[in-house]
Amino acid sequence: MNNSTIDLLCRHRSIRAYLSTALSDEQIDCIFKAAQAASSSSFLQCSTIIRITDQDKRQQLAHDAGEQSYVMSAPEFWVFCADFNRHHQIDSSVNLGKAEQLLLGCIDTAIMAQNAVVAAESLGLGCVYIGGVRNHIDHVTTLLKLPRYVLPLFGLCIGYPDQNPDPKPRLPRSLIFFDNEYQMMDKTILSQYDQQMSQYYSERPTNQKPGGWSDKIPTTINKEQRDFMLSYLHKQGWITK
Ligand SMILES: Cc1cc2nc3c(=O)[nH]c(=O)nc-3n(C[C@H](O)[C@H](O)[C@H](O)COP(=O)(O)O)c2cc1C
Repeated sequence: MNNSTIDLLCRHRSIRAYLSTALSDEQIDCIFKAAQAASSSSFLQCSTIIRITDQDKRQQLAHDAGEQSYVMSAPEFWVFCADFNRHHQIDSSVNLGKAEQLLLGCIDTAIMAQNAVVAAESLGLGCVYIGGVRNHIDHVTTLLKLPRYVLPLFGLCIGYPDQNPDPKPRLPRSLIFFDNEYQMMDKTILSQYDQQMSQYYSERPTNQKPGGWSDKIPTTINKEQRDFMLSYLHKQGWITK
């Protein structure tokens, strides 16, 4: 079964090269409204978007994110934050700092951001999330003047694509979609996927690399450890109890 929404979702690919064409106010409004229409746990509305229009701040964020050039060149760059500061402003006696609130803030904010991505893609735009803003999260917090109980989760580049990459093959359904109970992984199916990814990585026009998917797991996980995160979270008022 297919329809235009499902087609759009299945055509998704991250865009890392943009035309300089600015988005109209109407487009920005439309993407924002779609983002805000997302579900919200207990209707707490615990997310905030910071649109970066200041070029110097954009440059610093691009640097913080590991010199990802598209952070600078994308017409729009939005930082998505989990945010319980608003609730603290409403009533400073509310019991913040619970692990559950961290989960809730991350879940709601990611759902909201994905609505923005889908809306943008439906307008012919492209996007890429930038988790790299967490590489120097202290600096990002100072730069964006984030108070306690606000947690910058990721950035989002939005703009007209100046590239047309193919969608990336995903894990086979049988490895991630189970009936009734968890299933340990079938290694034969994994190795078939690795072959498919190996072909994809060697044939794509940019950033070609050897190997499949699973051989990259240790390096990828180890490189993204950000060991400072727990103390940052505590300092910012998250998971203190
Ligand atoms: C929360 C999050 C953070 C990400 N951070 C980055 C990033 O910092 N830089 C980047 O180039 N891509 C980033 N990505 C994009 C992923 O690399 C990309 O979604 C993945 O490789 C799958 O490719 P696709 O989006 O083209 O299907 C991020 C994706 C997510 C969901």
